[in-house]
Amino acid sequence: MTLNLGDEAPNFQANTSHGLINFYNFLGDSWGLLLSYPADYTPVCTTELGRTAQLSDEFKKRNVKAIAVSVDGIEDHYQWVKDINEVKETEVDFPLIADHDRLVSTLYDMIHPNASGTQTVRSVFIIDPQKKIRLMLTYPASTGRNFHEILRVIDSLQLTDKYRVATPADWNPDEDVIISNTIKTEDAVEQFPKGVYEIKPYLRYTPQPDIEK
Ligand code: BEZ
Repeated sequence: MTLNLGDEAPNFQANTSHGLINFYNFLGDSWGLLLSYPADYTPVCTTELGRTAQLSDEFKKRNVKAIAVSVDGIEDHYQWVKDINEVKETEVDFPLIADHDRLVSTLYDMIHPNASGTQTVRSVFIIDPQKKIRLMLTYPASTGRNFHEILRVIDSLQLTDKYRVATPADWNPDEDVIISNTIKTEDAVEQFPKGVYEIKPYLRYTPQPDIEK
């Protein structure tokens, strides 16, 4: 199934390490982070799921629920999680989907046959509380994801949903943001009292509006 940004995230029921889950019920009013990974008991995946667990408080702060999927079985998930917890000194507190019938992988196009006919690639989906897909990323099996980037995109999405701004290249929280081109400069001055810095008529910055500075 081909999915695009802005599409409704497909719902599903799946067997997970936390029991049977209806995806929408699991998400509730939260944002969702759906991660696929190639296989249990593999080194890069061990570091990734461990990192996701270590960042649990960061995801909670942002009202994000993580869930991961591979085509491995539930027993492997249970046993492997013990390794992840030990190796990464953490507690995997999010569900792992056992997608042996490939229902979720197919719905979210996570198997790329020319990369691997049997394993899921490293997909990232960020889903908003309205269940719309807001980000899709695909990494090759040999490259572990950058979780700073995932948090950064969540911060950008949540900020730009609240204010008429966009975030520039390599932006990080607390840095200046770009004022939407749909706002006239005279209106921007009122809407962004911390200042409007015009580099070009189409490139105007303001300090991040929702922080003390
Ligand atoms: C890994 O997680 O280390 C891995 C999984 C599949 C292919 C290559 C690496």
